[in-house]
Amino acid sequence: MAQLEAGDLAQAVIARMAESRDPRFRQIMTALVKHAHAFVQEVELTGDEWMNAIQFLTATGKMCDDKRQEFILLSDTLGISMLVVAIEQAKGIQAKGTGAVATPATEATVQGPFFWEGAPELPLGSDLAGDAPGEPAWYSGTVTDVDGNPVPDCPIEVWSGDGNGIYDMQHGEDAQMMLRARLRTDADGRYRFWSIKPTFYPVPDDGPVGDMLRRMGRHPNRPGHIHMMLRAPGYQPLTTHLFVADSPYLDSDAVFGVRNSLIVDFKKHAPGTAPDGRVLDKPYYSAQYDFRLVPSTQGVTA
Ligand SMILES: [Fe+2]
Repeated sequence: MAQLEAGDLAQAVIARMAESRDPRFRQIMTALVKHAHAFVQEVELTGDEWMNAIQFLTATGKMCDDKRQEFILLSDTLGISMLVVAIEQAKGIQAKGTGAVATPATEATVQGPFFWEGAPELPLGSDLAGDAPGEPAWYSGTVTDVDGNPVPDCPIEVWSGDGNGIYDMQHGEDAQMMLRARLRTDADGRYRFWSIKPTFYPVPDDGPVGDMLRRMGRHPNRPGHIHMMLRAPGYQPLTTHLFVADSPYLDSDAVFGVRNSLIVDFKKHAPGTAPDGRVLDKPYYSAQYDFRLVPSTQGVTA
């Protein structure tokens, strides 16, 4: 049998996939092998370094459970999550036949590691904050299609950390859902709810990803944001955030998720009567944002 030299190994691995019956899988694995081999060659990876990498990935997997997803954090902090989101959205909003990408659709951003399936369905106008620490904020706006037609009964999943930047899932074994809900737009496509003004926070940095960030000389912080996920039948799903306009770290988000079009002014109001008639004895904020969804028939699926 012919001996393989270093430069031939990638091609030999790729050739062994000739019998694969899944063309997309084969395409992905071919590119992965090609780039991975090129990477090892470029940095002349040593045996110790490769073992360190394997131990790092093993530790990353061991850190994961139903409330902690270290692999999502790794993908997020390497900018890969945002790259996947950007590629998918560019494909999805491409108008059929024209190749044009510019549309007024709301931009997507990363989902992050703190989505928790099964948030309570609450009526419009509800206060998601409960006893959670944080400054009250009134959120309102509309959901329309890209032509401005309202999207009624659109499910909106909302979640955020508290006023100290801590998510409910980070409260250990007995964590209870907090600051998250599922709402639906009214007949005119409007939504409204109370929550808190989100603050900047560090991504969990007590695991392997935190060690990686420190070795990279990076901070772990994300600018203040609230997560929104819109899933209306007949429209392309949208997972995004609203970012707080005056938040620190807008220019150096640890997960590279900031889009300028998602930065929202949180107006500060003196104590008094809020737009829904609620009387507050302390200052509160209001944030207004209109979402624009792309009909699912408009996307290019090829
Ligand atoms: Fe977040």
